[in-house]
Amino acid sequence: MLWSVATSTLIWLPSSYTISISTSTSWNSNPRPCFPRGIPQDLLPLLHKSPTFPLLSTFSHHFSPQDLSFHTHFSPKASSSSSSVVGSPDYREEPSTNVKFQTLLRLPGCSSPLSLLGTGYREKVFAIIGVKVYAAGLYVNQSILSTLDAWKGQSAQEIQDDSYLFGAIFQSPLEKSLQIVLVRAVDGKTFWDALDDAISPRIKSPTPVDESALSTFRSIFLGRPLKKGTIMFLTWLDPTKMLVSVSSDGLPSAVDATIESMNVTMALFDVFFGSDPVSPSLKTSVSNGLATMLK
Ligand SMILES: *[C@@H]1O[C@H](CO)[C@@H](O)[C@H](O)[C@H]1NC(C)=O
Ligand SMILES: *[C@@H]1O[C@H](CO)[C@@H](O)[C@H](O)[C@H]1NC(C)=O
Repeated sequence: MLWSVATSTLIWLPSSYTISISTSTSWNSNPRPCFPRGIPQDLLPLLHKSPTFPLLSTFSHHFSPQDLSFHTHFSPKASSSSSSVVGSPDYREEPSTNVKFQTLLRLPGCSSPLSLLGTGYREKVFAIIGVKVYAAGLYVNQSILSTLDAWKGQSAQEIQDDSYLFGAIFQSPLEKSLQIVLVRAVDGKTFWDALDDAISPRIKSPTPVDESALSTFRSIFLGRPLKKGTIMFLTWLDPTKMLVSVSSDGLPSAVDATIESMNVTMALFDVFFGSDPVSPSLKTSVSNGLATMLK
């Protein structure tokens, strides 16, 4: 099916790479991170599934953003437990890559600072060789948590498996941003091709609007060597609008492009938080963060 094609054709490795053997045997051998205080395993979800949210997992089959407009009636309520940042001081380290992420970050084009929800890394495995390509962290406007009351008390596993929840986060008009930090140099075209290989199968029949958005997106990367340490932000302002910032020299201070196609912004969110994420460690970490904050 499309998903497996999308992920298996991801090529992150230009032939010029020096391949290093990864001694840690990749994400799937690590136990899932534990909760600081533990969540009772028998705790039943307060509300198993809310029929008002669309199924993110069906996006690739029934790709109809128009439908989404019927489902955006959140009623944000203040939630006392959702006002603190998980982790602690000023940054959190992604354990597999040692990349440090600030827990609170002011981003180009965003109206207020965003809070780190979880981190992970992207690894490309060739036979027995695991090559880490980048670390990633998801930042959100913490007010998003107060729209997720339906998931209060759920375990990280339940949250991780619930496409409704990730669909709700995507649909929220509150800012969220994925920070990507390259841990090896990648040619811009290679990076784009990999991204495009993941996005394109998720957009069945691209409209001129989609094509134009993809072309804008592509132009940021083509002909641009992305050295190790390059930082990118993919910032969803709302479902219809996404900002892209890239910097090879510290945190980006400007917006490089604006993507205005819901098909593209949704496909990109699905690449990371759909049912077949390119970085399972990121989705797991974000789910843990959500479970902790929604306790
Ligand atoms: C979330 O975003 C809104 C609107 O941009 C802003 O007013 C608010 O301060 C933000 N909330 C937090 C917790 O940052
Ligand atoms: C998304 O794609 C569908 C067809 O695949 C199209 O009908 C729709 O207009 C597209 N949406 C946008 C915003 O381009």
